Amino acid sequence: MINIDKIQRSVSMIGESEEIRDMLMLIGQVANTDISVLITGDSGSGKEMVAKAVHKNSRRKFEPYIAVNCSAIPSGIIESELFGHKKGSFTGASEDRKGYFEASHKGTIFLDEIGETPLETQAKLLRVIEEGEFIKVGDTKTQRVDVRVVAATNKDLAEEVRKGNFRKDLYFRLKTILVKVPSLKDHISDIHLFVERFGLEFCAKNDIAFKGFSAEAMKVLRSYHWPGNIRELKNLVESLVVMHRGERIQEEMVRKSLGISPNDFNPNLPILVDNDTEQIEHELMLKQLLFLRQDVNEIKQMMFKGKIEPSDAIQPSNSALYLPPTKPCPEVHEIPVDGHRDIEDGKAISIYDDAIGEATMSDLEHEMIERTLIHFNHNRRKTAKSLDISERTLYRKIQEYKIQKDEEGNN
Ligand SMILES: Nc1ncnc2c1ncn2[C@@H]1O[C@H](COP(=O)(O)OP(=O)(O)OP(=O)(O)O)[C@@H](O)[C@H]1O
Ligand SMILES: [Mg+2]
Repeated sequence: MINIDKIQRSVSMIGESEEIRDMLMLIGQVANTDISVLITGDSGSGKEMVAKAVHKNSRRKFEPYIAVNCSAIPSGIIESELFGHKKGSFTGASEDRKGYFEASHKGTIFLDEIGETPLETQAKLLRVIEEGEFIKVGDTKTQRVDVRVVAATNKDLAEEVRKGNFRKDLYFRLKTILVKVPSLKDHISDIHLFVERFGLEFCAKNDIAFKGFSAEAMKVLRSYHWPGNIRELKNLVESLVVMHRGERIQEEMVRKSLGISPNDFNPNLPILVDNDTEQIEHELMLKQLLFLRQDVNEIKQMMFKGKIEPSDAIQPSNSALYLPPTKPCPEVHEIPVDGHRDIEDGKAISIYDDAIGEATMSDLEHEMIERTLIHFNHNRRKTAKSLDISERTLYRKIQEYKIQKDEEGNN
């Protein structure tokens, strides 16, 4: 039985979409074998995380895992780096040196950007994958090594084979097990999980209050095309919470950071493909609808800024997980809690010890657990997975916070 949750937890991987679950399933099927794996996917989509997941779920997990970025090593020294060299084999080789393959003995070697390796090195890689044998630079005797190879590329290797830049035999050998990491736009339904995790993690580490993202801000994130994938999203979330310390992240803040003006055409709407009049009219109509919706959002924002009582304010409606403002968003607060050192930082105040903003960490935790339970219809397995905690911990937290059972007594 493949335990997807365990694989996910082993590397703190986020995602509950079908795309991520299918990928985890494949990782689960191959992790515990010695077969080599090729990971493909766009930049920042999570290839390295997948490589680690393969290693951590294999019988080699307590042995070395060595990640080598092949594109960062000059072609002149790549063989000596990978396979080692004998003393005196070239100028500067003042002593024998172990290569990465030898250092990974019994473990896993991750060859990142394998598409960047020179053709001669590829021949040697094929030999070590097929026979478990290599020869150090400047040596004559063959050495044996027991290494599992995981490789990654964001190049189209089939195309590289056609162009004569990549060996066909190595390509076929590697692609037997092909793990395709989806681009973020292909599993955009997971985006709220990423935003929440990256926001909370970064804020907890940097002692910043995290007030979540508004529903409108999330809409902008969902409609963006994310060329830099999860890495780009992570950087954006972190920079937004730094730039707007202690504030709830709003649509305008996101637009500004992404360089999208409110008048930009929503990429989710159909794109005009020819000049047919009917289609132009259709597009104009859609644009008008979009502007109308944006106007409504702006009005909502203005109402919010006009210090309307929180009970009347607009709350995010489409997510069970965003933390609502715990109290009317104040500009500068007095911290009533004794024993906490507070730091005044511009408008916001962040607090050391165990508090975030006006809510304590345990308040936030309690709220998140409760909301997530509701979101998943009190399914504890899904709740625990989504929160990245074990079911046992979830059970303990439910007891600790005295979270009530629902009508069916599921909880
Ligand atoms: N499913 C995920 N859950 C949590 N974090 C993720 C996930 N996928 C990627 N990340 C994070 O996104 C960042 C980029 O991931 P990673 O380095 O694995 O991407 P990559 O595909 O190897 O990128 P590149 O092609 O640029 O090397 C990392 O900080 C990683 O921790
Ligand atoms: Mg990488």
